[in-house]
Amino acid sequence: MKSLRMTKRLYIETVGCQMNVLDSEMVVASLRKCGYELTLDPAQADTLLYNTCSVREHAEEKTYSSLGTLKRLKQAHPEKIVGVLGCMAQKEQRSIFERAPYVDLIVGPGQLQQIPELVKQAEQGMGRQVAVSLGRRDGSLEQIRRSHETFDPLRDPQMRPTPSQAYLRIQIGCDKFCTYCVVPMTRGPEQGRPPEQICDEARILADQGCQEITLLGQTVNSYRFRQGGQTTTLADLLGKLHEIEGIQRLKFVTNYPKDMTDELLAAVRDLPKVSHYLHVPAQSGSNRVLQRMKRGYLVEEYREMMSRIRQFISEPAVSSDFIVGFCGETDDDFQQTIDLVEECRFKNSFIFKYSQRGGTRGAQLFPDDVPLEVKQRRNNELLAIQNRISEQENLRFLGRRVEVLVEGPSKLALKRGEAESPVTQLTGRTSCDRIVVFDGNRRQIGEILPINIFDASSHTLFGHIVTQHVGPEVFALSENGS
Ligand code: SAH
Ligand code: SF4
Ligand code: F3S
Repeated sequence: MKSLRMTKRLYIETVGCQMNVLDSEMVVASLRKCGYELTLDPAQADTLLYNTCSVREHAEEKTYSSLGTLKRLKQAHPEKIVGVLGCMAQKEQRSIFERAPYVDLIVGPGQLQQIPELVKQAEQGMGRQVAVSLGRRDGSLEQIRRSHETFDPLRDPQMRPTPSQAYLRIQIGCDKFCTYCVVPMTRGPEQGRPPEQICDEARILADQGCQEITLLGQTVNSYRFRQGGQTTTLADLLGKLHEIEGIQRLKFVTNYPKDMTDELLAAVRDLPKVSHYLHVPAQSGSNRVLQRMKRGYLVEEYREMMSRIRQFISEPAVSSDFIVGFCGETDDDFQQTIDLVEECRFKNSFIFKYSQRGGTRGAQLFPDDVPLEVKQRRNNELLAIQNRISEQENLRFLGRRVEVLVEGPSKLALKRGEAESPVTQLTGRTSCDRIVVFDGNRRQIGEILPINIFDASSHTLFGHIVTQHVGPEVFALSENGS
């Protein structure tokens, strides 16, 4: 049966950060070129790919449990191809076969360009395929860099949640080596992409109808590209991208506190398309913990950066990440994190319980000595404080008008099964990344609309579309039926 069907079906599951979402888009685009189409049903798929994350143990366990559900399917249909892609493939490599022996492909994030070829080889019965990049000590810097290729040749608008928004990678890898983090190992050395390549890709996205581009890098504001004695920074890049017609909004994530230069803040202030939203993870409010994390700054420097952000930018929306229960974190250290959160009044914070990761300096140097209950308690406490602040900050929007890029039906509309009805509850985001929910019409998806806010919770603003008066000439045209 299988060989009679011309198109082959691909099922893909993605966990982890925006980098993975983007990588999956590229993988799908490259397999579409080989005759694949997407399916949401694993049982229907000829090839099943899992794009994975290793940042916390929980993320890896989630993948193993998804893989576990394939055992029976693969026994019944050994011809189906199962692939593990992404950070876990790079970190765990062949040991994935021990827990999931029916996996055919293991492909690290630096090797994704090989996927079509590897899938073809697996289809031809050539056995297990493993493609990973060099480890951080397995060659010269140049060799290691080359083994982590950036994979950005193709765009697949159909893979994006909305055609009007897209991610664009400007940097791969990370050289910061925070002691808790696997990313420098899984994604390799930090490398900036050439500015011309980035601008070309942005033009393609604009031609495809994309209005909002989010630039991606692990430490996106450390972006540098040197060529012929000239260095391009993120501020320069924003200036170039700002010129592209069709692009209405530019965002960039994730920022590293030490690299938040005045030059970048001035670009955010002066370029109207650039969002005033800045995600700059602090991780902790205690210098003792920051030093153990090897974050490279003191909390005083983080505070100084926050005050510079406020000097340069009107109404900035700053968000952060925090790790609670890092090795040796005391009640007093945690109290200092609370103090920082209270003081900075972040738009939102992502809070994580420390998860010890093999291969990191943290795992070698410090015991994971904060009990799970304490991590959980601190997580809940910090989250409650942040949620109160987020709600207070959102309540300041009551009665105000915001511009919202409409993304699609809201979660509630999807739950109610209304997704297909033209009039429904819609969701979108302000330029500062605030989620707004309102009643509208599906044809408005992809438009930037003025919305009056009448209510707010910690994560959502609720509004009404501002009725736009149609001018007499437009009215006459529509009456004529043209
Ligand atoms: N490059 C980004 C994000 C990296 S991962 C940055 O530097 O901010 C996203 C977040 O996961 C981190 O900001 C950190 O808060 C969290 N994280 C990373 N490693 C972790 C670990 N071992 N345990 C718990 N949280 C972790
Ligand atoms: Fe990980 Fe630190 Fe690099 Fe972020 S900056 S990816 S937390 S090592
Ligand atoms: Fe996870 Fe890799 Fe991203 S470890 S957070 S998918 S860079």
